[in-house]
Amino acid sequence: MRIVDIIDKKKQGKELSKDEINYFISSLTDNSMPDYQASAWLMAVWFRGMSEIETANLTDAIINSGDCIDFGEFSKQIFDKHSTGGVGDKVTITLIPLLAAAGIPIAKLSGKGLGHTGGTIDKLESIPNFSCRLSVEEMINQVKKIGVAIGQQTNNLTPADGILYSLRDVTATIDSMPLIASSVVSKKIAAGAGHIILDVKYGSGAFMKTPQDAVELAKLMVRVGKHLNKSIIAVVTSMEEPLGRAVGNALEIIESIEFLKGNIIKGDIAELTYDFATIALMQTGKFIDEETARAYLKELIYTGKAIDKFKELIIAQGGDPEVINNYSKFPQSQFKIEVKAKSSGYIKRIDAYKTAYGCKLLGAGRDKKNDPIDYSVGVFLNKKTGEPVANGDVLYTIYSNAPAKTEECKKYLDEAFEICTEKPAAIKQIYEIIKP
Ligand code: URA
Repeated sequence: MRIVDIIDKKKQGKELSKDEINYFISSLTDNSMPDYQASAWLMAVWFRGMSEIETANLTDAIINSGDCIDFGEFSKQIFDKHSTGGVGDKVTITLIPLLAAAGIPIAKLSGKGLGHTGGTIDKLESIPNFSCRLSVEEMINQVKKIGVAIGQQTNNLTPADGILYSLRDVTATIDSMPLIASSVVSKKIAAGAGHIILDVKYGSGAFMKTPQDAVELAKLMVRVGKHLNKSIIAVVTSMEEPLGRAVGNALEIIESIEFLKGNIIKGDIAELTYDFATIALMQTGKFIDEETARAYLKELIYTGKAIDKFKELIIAQGGDPEVINNYSKFPQSQFKIEVKAKSSGYIKRIDAYKTAYGCKLLGAGRDKKNDPIDYSVGVFLNKKTGEPVANGDVLYTIYSNAPAKTEECKKYLDEAFEICTEKPAAIKQIYEIIKP
């Protein structure tokens, strides 16, 4: 078999066999294939797509490129959640300690930022010394000990996804349904959870721009799960505006801590976290009644159990737990610039993509695969969609380390905000839930 023939076959839109996909993935993982061939193949897949069976075979090959975490009988209880990527999307960070505090064991493999979207790993690594580089054994031991672990794809776990993920990020090949489905589902299956919920996002800040495309992707992922004997629930949610008020790595962790401490009780982050947590409590059979489940989750927040679990997770993964009570322990930006409204009315919309792009210009994301990121920078949205605004009110705050970057970021943020005279309808977070 020759890689060039596999690229050519995909270029012509033909279906690749299981053997061809396995050969491609093993050549990727043993480094016998150069990046330029892998990149050419990714672009061919981007243009030509893949059938459901090809996507399932690709997912399987990525899983088999490394080890799988085997929790044995215990795996039936383990829960995992993954988002297809958004802006300000910190729901993993709010949800995971909450569910772990509810006694649901969690083993999660997360990703770094991809394209304009933020990554859970980058966010968590803004906590000084926090590391997601856990071995399979460390993941298993940590879940058994404290009920929760957040790892990342490594040389042992889905290594092929690690290589493809970095290449996709810099070759404009992220927004492809088979590539997203295989990347997400492979990590979820390799991490060994029995219960998986996927948050499939649509809108300006997501890779799928319309709810219809997100539903198609969600269905594909649920069916790929079925091919590989894994039951997956996919929830299609809006990413038209950034989630919560903070966009940027350390800023998002601070907002998550505020939620876990019980200081954020309304708004999209609280709503989505409780929605996902309730679905998880029902999926794992811990509750059969939604209302009781929600009340129980709120109690975990108000009694401090959720934030205590987050602290335990930070300590277990080497991070500095003092960040919870002392935000000055996070990397700090040099400049904090408040930008004011020039008219009055209501916030009509805040474009998630433009907000993300502005933050990336500040240094919150990567341009090339090994670029360092600046954990301290980002944007805080002082106003959100539907809120009233008066001329001169602070609309948003830029956290930056370079005046020139601040100006570039401001250009995008000014475009992202739209003000209107009539109060707009509230954004519905959940569009559809797809079950196996
Ligand atoms: N998250 C992933 O892990 N992979 C993707 O392709 C998109 C989001």
